[in-house]
Amino acid sequence: MSLTLSYPSLVKRPRRDDAPLFDRQPTDLDLRYGIQTDGHNHPPSVYHRFKHSDGYRYEPIRIQWFTKAIQALPIQPRDYSFIDLGCGKGRALILAREMGFGSIVGVELIPRLAAFARRNAIRAGGAIEVKTQDAARFADYPSHLVLYLFNPFGHKTMQNVIDNLVASKARDVWVVYLCGSHCCLLREAGFACVDGNAWRRE
Ligand SMILES: C[S@@+](CC[C@H](N)C(=O)[O-])C[C@H]1O[C@@H](n2cnc3c(N)ncnc32)[C@H](O)[C@@H]1O
Repeated sequence: MSLTLSYPSLVKRPRRDDAPLFDRQPTDLDLRYGIQTDGHNHPPSVYHRFKHSDGYRYEPIRIQWFTKAIQALPIQPRDYSFIDLGCGKGRALILAREMGFGSIVGVELIPRLAAFARRNAIRAGGAIEVKTQDAARFADYPSHLVLYLFNPFGHKTMQNVIDNLVASKARDVWVVYLCGSHCCLLREAGFACVDGNAWRRE
């Protein structure tokens, strides 16, 4: 009699294009509010039907990275609005709420992710607005703003975002650009890097 043991986790399988690159463990935040902010297994092709096709897929920020980046800003969160362009399922929005920002808005291109963000925000206590919209077309920037970006999209959308931000005449703006691939565009628009992630334009 032959006995075959199988160890599925040890079998090396070819990686599918849409396989997740992140772990799927719920965070403390998810457990605390009964929400789900982990990664989402959509194919990169979902971005191809939008204006610039240069979206990067949903991967939630690590909580410690977010907290460290925001706490490094010399501001009182209650005096500032917080906008997350490419908010995905809303993890950063909920963390911003816990930090006490005056108002909180998330913008997300993919309707399914925006729906998650809305549901999660309500479960976590509300007071968060989620817009299903292309960040390239968003132009509603208030003064006294923390604009948060966790490397959400490519060069063309980033250029539109910066153009709209500058045209809005919003004053006292901090741009927190984590893992940003297009910092050169901020520099070209007159922003200066205050530390590794925070940018400011006088
Ligand atoms: C790396 S995830 C960041 C998620 C979230 N901001 C966080 O910190 O946890 C990038 C997100 O940007 C969204 N995105 C990509 N292109 C976009 C666009 N043009 N407008 C709005 N959202 C976009 C993606 O769908 C994805 O949810």
